[in-house]
This record gives sequence, C-alpha cells and structure tokens, in this order.
Amino acid sequence: MSIRFGIITISDRSFRGEREDISGKVLEELVKENLWEVTKTGLVPDEVAPIQELIRMWTDDREVDVILTNGGTGFAPRDVTPEATHPLIERFTPGIDEFIRARSLDFTQNAPLSRAISGIRKSTFILNLPGNPKAAREIFGLVVHLLPHAVNLLTDSPPDVIGH
Ligand code: MTE
Repeated sequence: MSIRFGIITISDRSFRGEREDISGKVLEELVKENLWEVTKTGLVPDEVAPIQELIRMWTDDREVDVILTNGGTGFAPRDVTPEATHPLIERFTPGIDEFIRARSLDFTQNAPLSRAISGIRKSTFILNLPGNPKAAREIFGLVVHLLPHAVNLLTDSPPDVIGH
C-alpha cells in the first residue's frame, strides 16, 4: 500500500543553516526504502506556531497519512514539540508512546528523557521523534510494522482488507 508521509524537522540550528538536517534526510530515506512516499517536508525553528502551522495545513487538507516530526522532544528550554503537537491531537495513541519509550531502553538509558507524544488528527497519524539521527532511525524501525495497519484503519478500509 502507498503511505504519504510529511516530515517536519524542528531545530533552531538547522533552521538557521548552522547544522545540516540529517535526521530529516534519514527519515526520508527510510520511508522510501519501504516504497512509501514523502509528499511534504518542512524545516522550522523550535517554536510552537510554525510547528502547528504545518501540522494543521497537512492534516486539515488530508495531504499526508503520517506526520513524523523530529527534534525538540527533550528537556532543553526551547524543546516545545510535544506542547505544539498536543493541542492539535484529536485522539491520543499512548500505546505507541509507551511501546517506543520502553523498547528504546534497549538502545539508550536516556530514552525516558524524550517527552515525545503521538496521536491522530483527522485521518493523519502524528508521531514525534527525537532529533538525533540515530534515535530517528531506531524508532522508525520500532514502529514501521505498525504503520500500514494504522493507516488502513484511519482511512476506513473495510475489515476484510485490513485482516481483522
Ligand atoms: N530514543 C532512542 N530510541 N534513541 C536515542 O538515541 N535519545 C534520548 C531520547 N530518546 C534517544 C532516544 C535523548 S539523549 C534525549 S535528550 C531525548 O530522546 C530527546 O531528544 P530531542 O531533544 O533531540 O528530541
């Protein structure tokens, strides 16, 4: 099945051109390796309004099935990605967050320092990922098998197609 992704890199330094956006590129590659499409990309600073503007635009126009944000989930004063995402979510998906944080402990003892959240707005699944490329790759690997079923359910396919 074809899944349309929007990838938002959230980083003051990348936005100012001081650091290459490696995580965004890693995520783009991973999506394409799975033969899915990246139809939208964005690079914004660590600020609520520009993050929300992209999420709103892409979800309200149903332009993407999945939004992956990367960056801004930690404890630093400017890390506001979860706060930007939270008010836009209509239905939360805490099982995904719990799964990711628990399994990420296999990669790093610092996994609980990510305040990332996830949820559904309209028919789009939104997932916050940490900003480091290694973390983005690890977490994509953890959830990749869940995405086709999740997107099928969101786009309201009949049960026999999704294998219930
Ligand atoms: N999760 C995974 N799977 N791998 C990682 O390397 N890094 C942790 C955590 N979660 C990490 C991870 C660290 S060190 C931090 S500070 C938080 O994610 C938040 O990262 P962010 O501020 O770049 O969003």
